[in-house]
Amino acid sequence: MKSDWKSRFAANVREFEGYPIGKTIKYLTDPEIISLAGGLPSPDVFQRSEVRLASRKILEEDIDRIMQYSPISGEGSLYHAVLGFLARDDIHIGEENLLITTSGQHGLDLVGRLFLEEGDVVLVDRPTFAGALVAFSMQRPRFVGIDIERDGSDVSGMREKLEQLYREGSTSKFIYVVPDFQNPTGITMSLAKREALLDLSYEFDVPIVEDSPYRDLRYRGETIPAIFTLDQRREGGHVIGLYTFSKLFCPGMRVGFNIGPAAVIERMTHIKEGNILNTPKYNQDICTAFLEEMNFEAHIEKCRIYYREKLAVFFETMEEHFPPEMGVSWTRPEGGLFLWVTLPKHIDTDELFFDAIEHKVAFVPGEQFYGENADRNHMRINFSFVSKDQLAEAVKRLAACIRKRL
Ligand SMILES: Cc1ncc(COP(=O)(O)O)c(C=O)c1O
Repeated sequence: MKSDWKSRFAANVREFEGYPIGKTIKYLTDPEIISLAGGLPSPDVFQRSEVRLASRKILEEDIDRIMQYSPISGEGSLYHAVLGFLARDDIHIGEENLLITTSGQHGLDLVGRLFLEEGDVVLVDRPTFAGALVAFSMQRPRFVGIDIERDGSDVSGMREKLEQLYREGSTSKFIYVVPDFQNPTGITMSLAKREALLDLSYEFDVPIVEDSPYRDLRYRGETIPAIFTLDQRREGGHVIGLYTFSKLFCPGMRVGFNIGPAAVIERMTHIKEGNILNTPKYNQDICTAFLEEMNFEAHIEKCRIYYREKLAVFFETMEEHFPPEMGVSWTRPEGGLFLWVTLPKHIDTDELFFDAIEHKVAFVPGEQFYGENADRNHMRINFSFVSKDQLAEAVKRLAACIRKRL
């Protein structure tokens, strides 16, 4: 029996290997490696003293409730703060439309468990967020990816795909998008495309899952309304929004929230009952304090200035070390934490990754961001975490190892 565990595993996870980025990260233990691989916010913008202060207050005032089980749907005080946070974005919902989650990844897991069965189709961008693919994969759906364009999802391509599925007597369970500063490409979906995606959603009766961890991290250009907002201004009830405090505040608290139609939120709450019960009250209270007591707008502005400067350093050094004749191109995100570098077709970034490790620099091979038919000549770059000097040095090292493969 000891040697035959695998055959006992449930079919849906028997071959499941988790997060592909996790496998990459194990190579990054060498402290000399400059890693552009993770999706980490910079500790330089962490609100340490504010968190210490809030923490002391919360523990002094409410330690008994902190140490106890708490409501599965979330703390009333955080509900109140989140409804205010969303109202800034012209999203107006009731408590029945909101569920506190234990981070964005948990929000994705709830979506997968709620909607997907083996073989169900999910329409996604090519590339798309690897963590969503991992979360949904546990239900063994079929990902249908449509190449993302400079202004976001290829909505016409998605329409063709839905028409084809319809002819085959099938459909997509939902469409998953990250419209603002998408992970991994940094691309933002235009207003016209957001409206067109909603048209598609209404016409084919397919919900949209809008994942929004980066929405407030805009460094240039005008904010575009969330798809959730646009849906509320039109028919309403077609969009499920996923949010997390991980990127704006800090990932360590593991708190996020899902919003959507009451029937969806109710069933997600039941699933949460079955998978983790309550999100720790302490962590929720710290997030409430983040929204209500830590000068939220000033913090966001600080993050914007800080990350904007880093992104500028990255662009400058890329231009210096990757002249046009190298055939390397990169996206120009208006916000978020990532960008996407495209290398000449013959360079396999899975292989390049190991050269890069030897050159003491790391990135995430693009292959990990495809639900099907992966492209192999892209790199996802995170510019938020390392210092400006390290960022410039990392670009230099990347250029050196890429030159060897040209
Ligand atoms: C698009 C997207 N959704 C969800 C998440 C998950 O965030 P969390 O750290 O809160 O689980 C991430 C994290 O990188 C992300 O980029």
